[in-house]
Formats: sequence, structure tokens, C-alpha cells
Amino acid sequence: MSILLLYFLTILTYVYLHHPWLIEAKTHPNDGFSINIFHRYSPKSPFYNSSMSPKEVYHRLVLSSASRHRQIKWQQSNIGVVNTNLIPNDGDYLMQISVGTPPVQLVAAVVTGTDLTWFQCRRCALCYQQNTTNFDPESSRTYMNLPCDTGHCSNLDKTHLNCYQNENLCRYWYTYGNATTVTGGVMGTDTFSFTSMNGYDQCAAFPSIAFGCGYQQAGVFDTDSAGVLGLGSGPVSLVSQLGPSISYKFSYCLACADSQSASRLRFGGVFEDASGNGCVTTALVTRDSSTLYNLELMGISIGQMSLNMDREIMIDTGTTLTYLDPSIFNNLEVMVNGVIGAMPVSDNPLAEPVLCYDTNTEFLTPPDIVFHLNGGDLVLKANNIFFVVDNYLCLGIVKSPTDGDPMVLGNMAQVNLEVGFDLLSKTVSFSPRDCSQ
Ligand SMILES: *[C@@H]1O[C@H](CO)[C@@H](O)[C@H](O)[C@H]1NC(C)=O
Ligand SMILES: *[C@@H]1O[C@H](CO)[C@@H](O)[C@H](O)[C@H]1NC(C)=O
Ligand SMILES: *[C@@H]1O[C@H](CO)[C@@H](O)[C@H](O)[C@H]1NC(C)=O
Repeated sequence: MSILLLYFLTILTYVYLHHPWLIEAKTHPNDGFSINIFHRYSPKSPFYNSSMSPKEVYHRLVLSSASRHRQIKWQQSNIGVVNTNLIPNDGDYLMQISVGTPPVQLVAAVVTGTDLTWFQCRRCALCYQQNTTNFDPESSRTYMNLPCDTGHCSNLDKTHLNCYQNENLCRYWYTYGNATTVTGGVMGTDTFSFTSMNGYDQCAAFPSIAFGCGYQQAGVFDTDSAGVLGLGSGPVSLVSQLGPSISYKFSYCLACADSQSASRLRFGGVFEDASGNGCVTTALVTRDSSTLYNLELMGISIGQMSLNMDREIMIDTGTTLTYLDPSIFNNLEVMVNGVIGAMPVSDNPLAEPVLCYDTNTEFLTPPDIVFHLNGGDLVLKANNIFFVVDNYLCLGIVKSPTDGDPMVLGNMAQVNLEVGFDLLSKTVSFSPRDCSQ
């Protein structure tokens, strides 16, 4: 009898801990929940290496940006095979998430430019070297493979899907670049729990979230990351799956790479100060298949000088730098040179195509750069969009290889802004905020 009682108590405790509506009851309705995320090179990161110089950090960021930009171009253009290394689980901002029962804490890249959440799973046939905990579906009581005839399986792009009649397993398969990098596996569902940072809810848990359990990873992967959290706007994305319980809203506030503070990711709720000073709300450019968050960029100005354009720009947490068409960038460079009153050095300390100005010879004052979006002006503050390497001041905006390549608003441009996404009203809002508070 007492064993039976214990059994029921265990179940009750389990239900209490794992049902979001119960947790929601403890918080203000629609308040959502916030979690800490961290820049991989920041002191808050478990991968922080205090002997890396800022120059080394920025050099890596410039290289990973270029790789990520190639991947976005490749994703968007269906150009087929390209001979470049594309790293599928890379991203500057990482978060800890607990998956399964009992929960296992995984570290994964937070990426707004992709829908599918996936983790490398134990007993993978092809595995990348992963230096952090991986997910073992057999050790989770709540894990289930996803059959083919389910919504989340059919929501995957047909070209990435293999459903064999005899097994009814939803198998996915993604290749990158020239197909030497692949990730493939089986779609499954399990409980995702987020450890919240505000005092109300210790843990927000959501049962039956669909994700990829990766059994075949070949090519170049990030050893720190257990996989990817897809925050895109398509139906398989984590945001769409959490859906009504987060009012189809999320926001983040990114602290810079060398900040002593963590950054924040918030699901649901109202954005404080959304109507406050300097808040800009812009409409997403919508398409039939919408994974990516594209905004309409109508101009760029510095002080009294401005450029007009009508181009889409994708907002991405995974790319560090901001990418513009070369023709636009060249005009921007002229404006920056004019305001700074100096020419960029030809051999910059990063030895990469980045604009850097020598501060040895004179004191330079970098300007704010204003992006005119459809709906308002987004001010990129000088101290976020310029960074310092040795005695050089470098610009976090670069040119993409060719006109017409995807333009990307990278994460450096988004530092110290509360960036809010509303998938129902299809808008993105930006409010200036000190994200290291
Ligand atoms: C930390 O960075 C230094 C300098 O780049 C490097 O020599 C060292 O191998 C790094 N340590 C680890 C554990 O990655
Ligand atoms: C694919 O691209 C990578 C990276 O550039 C290269 O090392 C590799 O040789 C290429 N493989 C094939 C089959 O072309
Ligand atoms: C990952 O682990 C391997 C083996 O334990 C170790 O040799 C390697 O240095 C680690 N890599 C990183 C980036 O920590």
C-alpha cells in the first residue's frame, strides 16, 4: 500500500514539475520566462579561455561569420554544391537546456536563422567530437520517436525527409556545402525544460517538443555545442511549437562578447517599455516558406549623410558581423571615413577584410550608424558596432562577396537592444537597453 502511495506521490510531483500550466499559475499570466544565454567567448561561458587575446577572439568571430554567411547564402539560393566548410551547429550565443526525464543539461547554439532543433544523440553511427554532454534517448523515460504520419514530420521540408513504409520513422537528412558535411537522424519528441532566471518559476517545462536526434554527423562541427536550438519562424521551430503558451513571442537582449554578464532570452510575455523611448517596430517580410526573419532596409545614414536602398536584410543571432552588398558597403565606407576623418589601414591586425582605423596617430570618434527600416530608425550605437583590437578601431559591418548575396544584420549590431519577435503580428521590435544589467 505504501509503495502505491509513494508511486502516486512520485507521479504527482512529476506532473507538477512538468506541466507548464501549473508553472504558469505561479507567475503573472502572459509573463513568460527568461533564461540566460551566453556568448561563447565571454567570461560567463563554460568555454571561456582567459588566455585568448581580444585579437584572437575577434579573428575567430570574423572567420566564423564568413562561414555562417556562406551557409545562409547556400541555404537561400539553392545553388547546390559549394566547396566550403559550413559548420551546422555553430553560433556565437549558446544556451543550456534540459531535455528528457530525468533531464540532461545540454549546451546548444541559439540560432534564429534555422527551424529544426537537433542534438547529436548517443549511439550515433557517425559522430563529431563533442566535448559537452550529449543526449541519450534510451535514458529518457519520456522520449518517443516521431512516426511519419505526424504533423511535425510532415512539416519538415520533403527534400530533407526519408519515410520508409516498413518502419514508420521520421528520418531527416541535411547536407551542407558540397555534402561532405551532413547531419541526419530520427525525429523524436521529449520534454524540454528551461531554467528560468527570474525568482518566480524555477523551471518551465514543455512536454512533447519535436526535435532531431542526430545519429549521422560527418564533417566540421563545433565541439562545444550539443546541437542547435532553432528559433526560426517556420512550423517546426521551437518558437512555433511553444506557440500559444508563449503567445508566439520571444525576445533577447545580447550583451557583448567581453561582457561580464550573461545575455537573456525571453519566451512569451510583454516586452517592457515596448512603447518607450527609441523603440522601433518593423514588419517582417513574409513569404510562403518562412524560416528566416527578413526586414526591409530602406536606407542607412550617418549624421547628415545618407544612402537610399530597398533591400531585405535578414536578422540572425548566429552571425557576428553585419553583411551588406558591396555596392552599398562601398558608399557606407566613404561616409564612415568622412565622419571619422581617417582612412582605414590597408593591413589590419585581423588580416581579414574588415575596415580598421589606426588609433595610434590620433584620437578617433566613431559615429552611430542609423538603419532606416520600414517603420522606424534603428540606431546602431558606435560602441556596439565598432570594436577595438590592439590600437585599431574596427567596424562590425562588412561587405558580402557579391551584390545580391543575402544581407544580414548580425549579432554585434544587436547588442544592447531588446529585440522582440512577434510571430502573430509578424513584427520585430528594437528597444535600446543595457543588456549587461
Ligand atoms: C586558450 O587560448 C590559448 C591562446 O590562444 C591557447 O594556446 C590554449 O590552447 C587555449 N586553451 C584551450 C583549453 O583551448
Ligand atoms: C568539399 O569542400 C571541402 C572544404 O573546402 C574540401 O576540403 C573538400 O575536399 C571538398 N570535397 C569534395 C568532394 O569536393
Ligand atoms: C575536447 O576533448 C578532447 C579529448 O578529451 C581534447 O583533446 C580537446 O582538447 C578538447 N577540445 C576542446 C576545444 O576543449
